[in-house]
Amino acid sequence: MPRIAQPRQFVLESTGRAYYLGPDAAQTGTAGVKMARITYIEHNGTEHVVDVPNGLTVMEGARDNNIPGIEADCGGACACSTCHVYVHPDWVEKLPEVDPMEEDMLEFAYQPDPKRSRLTCQLKVSDALEGLVVQMPEKQI
Ligand code: FES
Repeated sequence: MPRIAQPRQFVLESTGRAYYLGPDAAQTGTAGVKMARITYIEHNGTEHVVDVPNGLTVMEGARDNNIPGIEADCGGACACSTCHVYVHPDWVEKLPEVDPMEEDMLEFAYQPDPKRSRLTCQLKVSDALEGLVVQMPEKQI
């Protein structure tokens, strides 16, 4: 039987946070997936503020919202470094440690900053990333 697309339902709290009621919500009765508000800043300063569902990566949040500046050629396999960003200084210590595979791949990124560079495909969105700010480099590779 063909699957019929369901309209997306969001719940917007008074705090401004949104929760996406995913397709399983109706089937399972669960409360839906929480979202984190993330700010992506292009190299030219253009800001994109979007709510990204928990469980996606920061790269997937950019991809799904057609935000330019994150190419993600390998699709998130940590094999290309074209999802490189500079994390806002306030966020550097709040993010999970860079693992050795990401560290190796960052060496291939365009003008990496040893303190602030991250690969967005390696950053999983959760409540802990609410308010994250990242800036894209001038170019990817
Ligand atoms: Fe290729 Fe992140 S998408 S390394």
